[in-house]
Amino acid sequence: MKFSTLSTLSLVYATTVAATPSFSQRAACSKGRTASSATCCVWYNVLDDLQANLFEHQCGDDAHDALRLSFHDAIGYSPKLKSQGQFGGGGADGSLIKFGAIELEYPSNEGLESIVMAEKDLADKYGVSYGDIIQFAGVVSVRNCLFGPRIAFMAGRPSATQAAPDGLVPAPFDNVTTILARVEDAGLTPEEIIDLLASHSIAFQEHVDPTIPGTPFDLTPAIFDNNFYRDVLLPGSVVPGSGLHTGEVKSPFPHEFRLQSDFALARDSRTSGHWLALGLNQHLMVSRFATAMAKMALLGQNSGILHDCSEVIP
Ligand code: HEM
Ligand SMILES: *[C@@H]1O[C@H](CO)[C@@H](O)[C@H](O)[C@H]1NC(C)=O
Repeated sequence: MKFSTLSTLSLVYATTVAATPSFSQRAACSKGRTASSATCCVWYNVLDDLQANLFEHQCGDDAHDALRLSFHDAIGYSPKLKSQGQFGGGGADGSLIKFGAIELEYPSNEGLESIVMAEKDLADKYGVSYGDIIQFAGVVSVRNCLFGPRIAFMAGRPSATQAAPDGLVPAPFDNVTTILARVEDAGLTPEEIIDLLASHSIAFQEHVDPTIPGTPFDLTPAIFDNNFYRDVLLPGSVVPGSGLHTGEVKSPFPHEFRLQSDFALARDSRTSGHWLALGLNQHLMVSRFATAMAKMALLGQNSGILHDCSEVIP
C-alpha cells in the first residue's frame, strides 16, 4: 500500500518534470520559431502578414504611416485635462482605431484613414488589441528602414474605453512653448520629443501642401539617418510646391519640405543643443530614438500588466 502511494507520487512528479523541463522552457510558435512565453507567438503571425501584405517589407508609405499613427495614438493622453475633471485620453490604447469614426475627423489625423483600416483588420484577424497593433506596427516599420533600430515591444494593452479628445496632437504651426507643454503633459521631456523627431528622417508630407504629396523632410526618406536634423539647420531659401502653407517654412532644397515646428525646435534655446547633438551623432540618435519610442508606447498604460514580446521584432 505504502509502496503504491509512493510510486503514484513519483509518477506524478516525473510527469510534472517532463512537462516543464528545467532547460529550454521556450514555447513553440509557427515556422519553427520560439518565444519565451506562448502569448508572444501570435505576434510572429501578425509580423508575417504585416510585412508581406501591408509593408511589403519596405520602408515605404505604409511603414511611414504606421510610425506616425503610433505617435498620434500614444500622445492622446492628458493628465492635465483629467485634473480638470475631463477625460484626458488613454494614451497608447488604440482609441484611434476603436473610435476612428471620431478621431479620424480631427484635423491632425488627416491621412491616417487607410493605415487605421488596415491595422484594424489585422488586429481583428489575429485577436490582438488595437493599442498593441498600433505600437507593434510602428516598431516593425522602423526595422524596414536602413539603420532603423530594434525597439522594445510590450503586448497586452486593454481595449480603449473612450475616444481621445481633439487637440492633443501637436500641430506644425504650434510654437515651441505649446509643443513642449503638450508633450510634457503627456509625460515626455523636451529632449524626448527631439529624440522622437528622428522619425521625420523617414517621413513625407502629404497634406500640409497637398499639391506635392510625398515630399520628404530629408533627402533620404527610406534611410533612418540623422541628415534630417542637419538639413533643418540649413538656411531655408526655396518654397517647394504651391507657396507657403500654414505650418510650413522655406526649405533648403526644392524637393524637401520643412515644417515650421521642426524649424523652431531646432533653433529654440530649450531644444537646440540636443537637436544639434543628434545631428552630429548617428549612434546617439538611433539609441535615443529607440528608448524614447519604447517610453512613448507606454503612455497612459500600466506597464505592470504587459508582457515583453520584443524578441518577435526582426
Ligand atoms: C512636434 C511634434 C510633431 C509635429 C508637429 C509633427 C507634424 C507632422 C506633419 C505635419 C506631418 C505631415 C503629415 C502629412 O502631411 O500627411 C508629419 C509626418 C510624419 N510624422 Fe510627425 N510630427 C511630430 C512628431 C512626430 C513623432 C513624435 C513621430 C513618430 C514617433 C512622427 C512621425 C511622423 C511620420 C512617420 C510622418 C510621415 C507620414 C507619411 O509619410 O505619410 N511625427 N508630422
Ligand atoms: C504660443 O502659442 C500660444 C497659443 O497659440 C500663445 O498663447 C502663446 O502666446 C505663444 N507663445 C509664444 C512665446 O509665442
